[in-house]
This record gives sequence, structure tokens and C-alpha cells, in this order.
Amino acid sequence: MHAAIYDQPGKPEVLYYTEVPDPVPGEGEILIKVEAISIEGGDIGGRRSSPPAFAGQVGGYASSGEVIELGPGVTSFKVGDKVSVFSWKGSHASLRVVPASQSWLVPEGMDMKLATAALIGTGTAAQALFQGDLKAGETVLVLGAAGGVGVPTLQLASKIGARVLGTGSSAATLEELRNYGLSDPIVLNDTPIAEQVKSLLNGGGVDVLIDTVGLANLQEVLPAVKDGGRVVILGAFESSQATLSTMYILAHRLVIHGCLLGQALVDDGVYERMDTALGQAATGELKVPIDKVFPLSEAAAAHARAEERGRIGRVIMVP
Ligand SMILES: NC(=O)c1ccc[n+]([C@@H]2O[C@H](COP(=O)([O-])OP(=O)(O)OC[C@H]3O[C@@H](n4cnc5c(N)ncnc54)[C@H](OP(=O)(O)O)[C@@H]3O)[C@@H](O)[C@H]2O)c1
Repeated sequence: MHAAIYDQPGKPEVLYYTEVPDPVPGEGEILIKVEAISIEGGDIGGRRSSPPAFAGQVGGYASSGEVIELGPGVTSFKVGDKVSVFSWKGSHASLRVVPASQSWLVPEGMDMKLATAALIGTGTAAQALFQGDLKAGETVLVLGAAGGVGVPTLQLASKIGARVLGTGSSAATLEELRNYGLSDPIVLNDTPIAEQVKSLLNGGGVDVLIDTVGLANLQEVLPAVKDGGRVVILGAFESSQATLSTMYILAHRLVIHGCLLGQALVDDGVYERMDTALGQAATGELKVPIDKVFPLSEAAAAHARAEERGRIGRVIMVP
């Protein structure tokens, strides 16, 4: 099969298009003929910093396609089903093997590019808001508002009835995000985020903070949260460099939630929550913007586009 892989982590140019052996589905797995691949934040982070586990390993989280073979023991899908799937590896290829338990039936008539663009972002947003227990009338701050997870988080938070603050690097893009539920744009500049939040809230703080970026300086943003508030950490871009003050957390009675979708899938309700969010994207109840479509053979250019700051929308590749 065709795949876009890299030998050493680094800039988008490390990706090259090549032939690798076809995968074979094992127990509980399905083989899909890939129709669309979404470049996720995790793909960018992985390509920047994670060496492949073995030569020729195919990376990548999200893709959608048609089921062409069932591994032993799979009863939840049949050959010919259209699915949107997510796993730690294997998306950047024309064929993919994934656990059936990490595959979702694509709603009838849903565009397959949209099906892959939507799955992880909307599902993560729903899970993060569930863990953060955001309620009507509360205030939430979304770090990384323009991202693939950020955009559905704004929409779902706004539907809950919350006031939605969000950060981003482009003022123009944040203005556009008002169409997705953002009420208070916070442009990243020399004024610290916490200071900008406090001046918007007359000295107060938000009830819930959702970090979809994984900021190295998350500690500096914590004063934006009111005492006793909830913090959901899900982003991973700079998180390996982050240091949090436990004394600050206990003095301000903060509740910190770690949210990692892949691990959370074993928890009750998470698969169903993702299914619901995918359905909302299919009907347009949740808007999932797509930025550009590239052939998989141009994966390096696609990744370069995906990591441009200050823009909205998933970058999609087609095999
Ligand atoms: N825990 C989970 O279950 C889970 C699920 C999905 C994703 N993630 C993680 O969440 C993060 C975001 O994913 P995503 O798919 O939303 O990514 P994305 O679509 O690429 O968006 C990331 C946003 O973060 C902002 N950003 C700030 N610092 C950045 C940096 N150093 N590099 C790149 N972007 C930066 C950008 O804002 P501006 O453009 O405004 O500058 C961008 O809009 C990733 O680390 C990903 O691995 C975790």
C-alpha cells in the first residue's frame, strides 16, 4: 500500500511517500480502504518529536474509509460499512487496520472527509466538557480556540449556555470564531492571558479552563480560574515542559482533570459520546470546518499547512 512515513522526527519535510507492506487485521480488528485522512494536532506533535517504533511504521490518528475485511471475532461491523476511525498509528496510508472498538459507523450520507475531520475534535470537545462539568450560566476559557478540538469546544460550550472566552494568535481568526460560539476573543500578545481574562470579568475568574494546546506556561494562566474552578488539560504540544505549582492548586482549591480520549475509551459513555458528536457533525448541528485537501503523496505540504498558526479548519489528505 501507499503511505507517508518518516524515519526521524522533525519538520514536515521529513515525511515521504512510499510503498509499505499491506496490514493484516488481527483479533478484534478491521481492515479499511482509506478514503480520507485528517491531520490532527497529535499527528503534528508526533511528527515533531516521536521517532517511529520501527522502520517503516505508519503514523497518524484519524481516517475514514470502507471496511474491506474483518479480523477474527469482529461482529460489530460488516464488509462495506463506512467508518471513521481513530488509533495511535496508521492513518497516513491507503489501507489501515484498527480495532473495531475504535471505529464509528459513519452516518448515512455523511461526507467521508467531514467524517474524519469531525471524529476526534468533536469527541474530545464533548469529553472535555463532560469532565469539566460545564453548566449553563458558567464561564469557560478555551486555550487554542481555533484548533480542531478548540472549534467544537466553543460550539458545545455555547450550546450548554456558557459564556465562552478563547485564546488564539490571530485577531481576525478569533473574530470569525464568534460564528462558532466564541463570545470573548483573547489575542495572544504581551499582556498575559490571565490578566486579559480578569479585565474581561471585572477581576473575576472563569469556572472552567480547557487547555487544548498543552501550554508550557499553563501555570501562568491558572490565575484566570476562580477559586474552586475546574481545569481540563488535554493538549500536548508543549506539555512536557509544563510545571504546575501544587501549592497554588491547593491554595486555590482547583480541580484538575486529565483528559486523554484513547485511554478514556474504556470508560462508560465515552464511545457513545463520540458517536453523538459525530452525528451532530453529520447533521450540521456542529460545524466542522475543512481548510484544504491534499493528495497523500503531498503529505509534507499538507503537514506544513496544518501547522500554520492563526487559521481555522482541518487539513485533509486523500490517498
Ligand atoms: N487528550 C486528548 O484526548 C486529545 C485529543 C485530541 C488532541 N489532543 C491534543 O490537543 C492538541 C491540539 O490538537 P488539535 O487537533 O486541536 O490541534 P490543531 O488543530 O493543530 O490546533 C492547535 C491550536 O493550538 C494553538 N497552538 C498554540 N501553541 C501551539 C504550538 N506550539 N503548536 C501548534 N499549535 C499551537 C494554535 O492556535 P493559533 O492557530 O491560534 O495560534 C492552534 O489553533 C494537540 O497537542 C493534540 O495532541 C489531545
